[in-house]
Amino acid sequence: MNNNTFVHKYIRPLIGKDDIVADMTAGNGSDTLFLARYAKTVYAFDISEEAIRRSREKTAEYDNVILIHDNHINIDRYIKEKIRLFIFNLGYLPSSQETRITKAEETLIAFDKAYSLLEEKGYIVITFYIGHKGGKDEYYLLKDHINKNRFQIIETYSQNKIDSPITYIIRKN
Ligand SMILES: C[S@@+](CC[C@H](N)C(=O)[O-])C[C@H]1O[C@@H](n2cnc3c(N)ncnc32)[C@H](O)[C@@H]1O
Repeated sequence: MNNNTFVHKYIRPLIGKDDIVADMTAGNGSDTLFLARYAKTVYAFDISEEAIRRSREKTAEYDNVILIHDNHINIDRYIKEKIRLFIFNLGYLPSSQETRITKAEETLIAFDKAYSLLEEKGYIVITFYIGHKGGKDEYYLLKDHINKNRFQIIETYSQNKIDSPITYIIRKN
């Protein structure tokens, strides 16, 4: 099973119709669409206009999606309420001219802001693509930060192949 399938299976029981959730990297809109089906409201960020267009198209039949075309480090400008679950699906938008890969230092800032917006017992789901340029550095920076701050990793997932993506599920105490 790939990481996206794992993530969807894992989080399905964790979200319900009263929950506000956020997709920090909307991309093609697959995670946003999944969240829209089960949550009350979905905030979805992407820095790429093309990603926002694709996500808008994909979630067109849902009126509970708030698409935000901005860098996710600015999340606190848009979200003023507690969030049940965040998804970070790092890396770049596949098959796009306007490729913008996530950057380790920005991901760290966005992660901390997300953590402070999380409700008690809320979740952050983060998938690292260590085979991409810069992906390993991003993984090690975040991993180190998570360990130093004793954020609670309750599950990890990876297919046992060289450089396959790694998913962490983090729960706020
Ligand atoms: C792997 S894709 C996300 C896949 C997506 N979750 C899906 O279901 O299709 C990563 C996305 O992160 C976006 N991105 C990169 N840096 C960003 C940033 N600083 N803020 C917001 N989005 C960013 C890229 O534009 C790209 O669309």
